[in-house]
Amino acid sequence: MACSRLPNGAIASEGEPLTIEAREGTAELWEEGGPKADIWGYEGRVPGPVIWIPQGETLPLRFVNRLKQPSTIHWHGIRLDNAYDGVAGLTQEAVEPGESFDYQVKAPDAGTYWYHPHNRSWEQLARGLYGVLIVQEAGAKAYDRELLFVFDDWRLNEERQIDEASFGNLHDWSHAGRLGNVLTTNGLPYFKERARPGERLRVRVVNTANARVLSFRFSKLRPRVIALDGQPVAPYELADDTLLIAPSQRADLIVDVPHEGGVFKVDEVSGAPFAAGEIAAGGPVMQRETPLPEDIALPANPLNRFLSLGDALSADLLMQGGAMGGLSQATLHGETKDLRSLAQEGKVWAFNGIVGSHHDPALFSVARGRTVRMPMMNDTSFPHAMHIHGHHFTVLSRNGAKPTREVWHDTVLMEPGEKVEIAFVADNPGKWMIHCHMLEHQAAGMTAWFEVA
Ligand code: C2O
Ligand code: CU
Repeated sequence: MACSRLPNGAIASEGEPLTIEAREGTAELWEEGGPKADIWGYEGRVPGPVIWIPQGETLPLRFVNRLKQPSTIHWHGIRLDNAYDGVAGLTQEAVEPGESFDYQVKAPDAGTYWYHPHNRSWEQLARGLYGVLIVQEAGAKAYDRELLFVFDDWRLNEERQIDEASFGNLHDWSHAGRLGNVLTTNGLPYFKERARPGERLRVRVVNTANARVLSFRFSKLRPRVIALDGQPVAPYELADDTLLIAPSQRADLIVDVPHEGGVFKVDEVSGAPFAAGEIAAGGPVMQRETPLPEDIALPANPLNRFLSLGDALSADLLMQGGAMGGLSQATLHGETKDLRSLAQEGKVWAFNGIVGSHHDPALFSVARGRTVRMPMMNDTSFPHAMHIHGHHFTVLSRNGAKPTREVWHDTVLMEPGEKVEIAFVADNPGKWMIHCHMLEHQAAGMTAWFEVA
């Protein structure tokens, strides 16, 4: 296998097939040098290897399953061919233990993406199966160096092992999902990065947690956002230095390390403040032979942004169920059942009255190239991270108000009671999922698919 190992264990594409194995491993999640937790990881590591693909190229990749469970790889946020989307039961059969599957990972859009299983995701991601995929844009970089922060939320038991006893816990599934008690960055409980005063960093942030919406405060670093979910945005400064990212979302930030240097803490502040890590800046102020480009904005991706709303297909999505949700009955595999009997089967959420599965008919079918507009209503007591495969969408309105900036998401966070209308051009043929990326909600019914024909 011809591949070059980059710093950080990254793998670069050189047009040669690459192999990634899912297998068991260990990680020091509790404390560096401390007890080793048994995990499942790509190449046995957490996170798995960083895969770099130059924009516009296609990476042939062989996935080998060395786990005891069937699995797949889904390329989150990547607009690739449907046959390689990695959804077990919809776009491919799950890869059995000892078997392999060959993917063609086409990368039309530059940006920060990630990969993870799409079979028993709620268990396989919680055990550590995920990695980052970076699609590199061509051209001069407007920063000196990049950092990658892959955040995860783990539930460990007293032995500092992954709490397996609580997999499938109905309370988690019917409430906010599986929330953890340990936060890691790049697989470690605390990160320490060094930087030079005056250095300009590009920081890629990924939330791989099953269900926890993360909120990071970058003390006095004044990050500017340049991309969300991989797609460039007009650069803007974060309000009070705080970055909110829902499960599966990514953000690319530009950080100018202050000239006076110092230690800059990064805390997670969604609950009690939790120390995620720090960037320590010291030494002489950064000097460059050639100045960096002034403009930090990223080049546009070849995404179809031309919505034709006048003749769009309109598809309403009512999000229902969960604890304190008021859903009394829903349809599971074509049979209407009350919530109590659904709960006995671990099904507590629904879209449009249907507890979702791949066996249901498509939510809608749309001719290739047509615009889809989808008013989504969160009629539940919990937030949800709504994700669409194979496309990026924009928010037309949130609770009736037009957003202040243009963003092309693959995942959007919706608070209880919120109504968000999204739209996208359905230009990628195939069967694509729409689901909540709080993985317990997905498994318990918040899932559907649509077809672009
Ligand atoms: Cu990241 Cu359908 O998932
Ligand atoms: Cu959800």
